[in-house]
Amino acid sequence: MAEMSQSLPDAKLLEILESQGYRELVSAHLFAGGVRLAPSIDDKHMLAEHAREELSHFEIVATLYEQVAGRGLYDVVAARASTLPTPASWLEIAVAAYLVDRAAAVQLAAYQKLGDPRLEKLIHKILDHEHEHQAAAETALLDQCSGPSSRGDLARNHVARWYPLARSVMDAPASNATAFADSVRPTLTECGLAIPGDPAA
Ligand SMILES: [Fe+2]
Ligand SMILES: [Fe+2]
Repeated sequence: MAEMSQSLPDAKLLEILESQGYRELVSAHLFAGGVRLAPSIDDKHMLAEHAREELSHFEIVATLYEQVAGRGLYDVVAARASTLPTPASWLEIAVAAYLVDRAAAVQLAAYQKLGDPRLEKLIHKILDHEHEHQAAAETALLDQCSGPSSRGDLARNHVARWYPLARSVMDAPASNATAFADSVRPTLTECGLAIPGDPAA
């Protein structure tokens, strides 16, 4: 292994776990809200399943948090998680779930570089489901974009709303913002959409 593993101070680890627990709850809420708006039974099943998986990620994060902090994680993050808006249409769900899931993935990748073995183990368990979430969110978005052209304008509004919200679920470093933009740009472009602030927007 090229990288030496190195433990973070507990206070830093707890800060990261609070941030991660918040993102898992936010993702669970987004997917669960999508069950109502999904156009088919298969889509409803998929979203309900993804919501459950996000809740199980929350449990994984909370377990480590409790071990280190000696207190529960839910009360620490629940109020903040409930402030994220709820999408009102299937198209908005597709945009929001895609962007928020990507932001969460970019953040996890940044944590992975920290080399803390406790974090490493946790991320490994979470990533198990995340590949599928990302593929599904991307497919749903591309599917919506290939529909009637009037959807393009609607999708643009959703991107304008959810791009900054998705960025806000990540930690502050500018490197996250850049990595996030790079990670969503190809799919948005394929959809005829652009990142707010990009020259093509
Ligand atoms: Fe997750
Ligand atoms: Fe996910």
